[in-house]
Amino acid sequence: MFRPGVSTFLNYLVAEFFTKVYPFNFRPDSGGHRANNGGVHRFRLGLCSFTWQIKRVIDLRSDTVSKPTPAMRRAMATAEVGDDVFGDDPTVRDLESHTAELLGKEAAVFVSSGTQSNLCALMAHCQRGDEYLVGDHAHTYMFEGGGAAVLGSIQPQTVSMLDSGMLDLDAAEAAIKPDDAHFARTRLLCLENTTDGKVIGLEDLEAGRELADRHNLGYHLDGARLWNASVALGVPPVGIAAPFDSVSVCLSKGLGAPVGSVLVGSASLIDEARKWRKMLGGAMRQVGLLAAAGRHAIDHHLERLAEDHENAQLLAEGLAQIDGIELEAQNTNMVFVRTPQKMPEMEQGLLRRGVQTRWSGNHSRMVVHLDVSETDVKSVLAAVSSELND
Ligand SMILES: Cc1ncc(COP(=O)(O)O)c(C=O)c1O
Repeated sequence: MFRPGVSTFLNYLVAEFFTKVYPFNFRPDSGGHRANNGGVHRFRLGLCSFTWQIKRVIDLRSDTVSKPTPAMRRAMATAEVGDDVFGDDPTVRDLESHTAELLGKEAAVFVSSGTQSNLCALMAHCQRGDEYLVGDHAHTYMFEGGGAAVLGSIQPQTVSMLDSGMLDLDAAEAAIKPDDAHFARTRLLCLENTTDGKVIGLEDLEAGRELADRHNLGYHLDGARLWNASVALGVPPVGIAAPFDSVSVCLSKGLGAPVGSVLVGSASLIDEARKWRKMLGGAMRQVGLLAAAGRHAIDHHLERLAEDHENAQLLAEGLAQIDGIELEAQNTNMVFVRTPQKMPEMEQGLLRRGVQTRWSGNHSRMVVHLDVSETDVKSVLAAVSSELND
């Protein structure tokens, strides 16, 4: 015979709590523009209010790790959408025309990622058997799966990069192939700004344009972090984009959108890029939900990148003071450090102290972003110091 006992009663209470009380009383607060403020939770019972904070991890692995803010999520939830493959999504159309205008180009196409954006650009500029000139550790060449060669039949011709991040233009010019059946046709010059957080200045960008013009080459910018360059130089985005025929910008790095990049250029180039986007499986339907996040990111998170650069400087200055850390560089939102010898335990040790980093041997790149505050930087410095010296 069934006898309700103490445990049944407790089960009932737990179920009631989680279905009726918890959803209406426990609210993660959102601090300022940050989505990830450590999860401050509050529970109200009658006149009493209990607050506690769940310790969070400060993630410095990349500026791609930030979470959409509550305001961004609201913009996404209320976005008007349509089938973008039919050109029916007003939010995508708005993001495309706004980004084209911001970067001073005729047209734009919204794509899923920086990788897809660069690949669509390369395939729009180059035919099968053509060649593009690219930095020997540029993202397009090193970290995009060789897509230009594999899917575009475009041969990469690497060019050494100077300490400034700029391509060695003399080396680039020397690598341009003569018009001869033995060679691939050199068609495109490709730059990256920022690169490892380094800002390439307007004179260098212009010098690249002159080289491209002398040899009748297209000129493409991987501007995944063009926004950081713009803020660091105090030059509006259009000024950085001006010398280029096409520019790819990412919304999901410092700007903090969850997904998306935009490729801008002339109307005919973007038409061509749209065709490649479709072939790559990147044409999406009611994607205004994501475009809304991108538009929100441009409107609200662009100018605040200056805060990331300041926090990165604070981090760099603090790390330089810690015994056992050598500061290599701080460029915009990125800080590069090394330890005198390999510290295999460093990653795990810091993680136990609430700081997530990536180490390659004795090197680490630490990236400051939307979800890292000045207070967080101080916590990181305390964690690194304790890890090395306690
Ligand atoms: C300079 C640069 N270009 C392009 C990309 C590719 O972007 P995605 O990861 O969105 O494909 C990245 C990604 O980190 C990058 O750092």
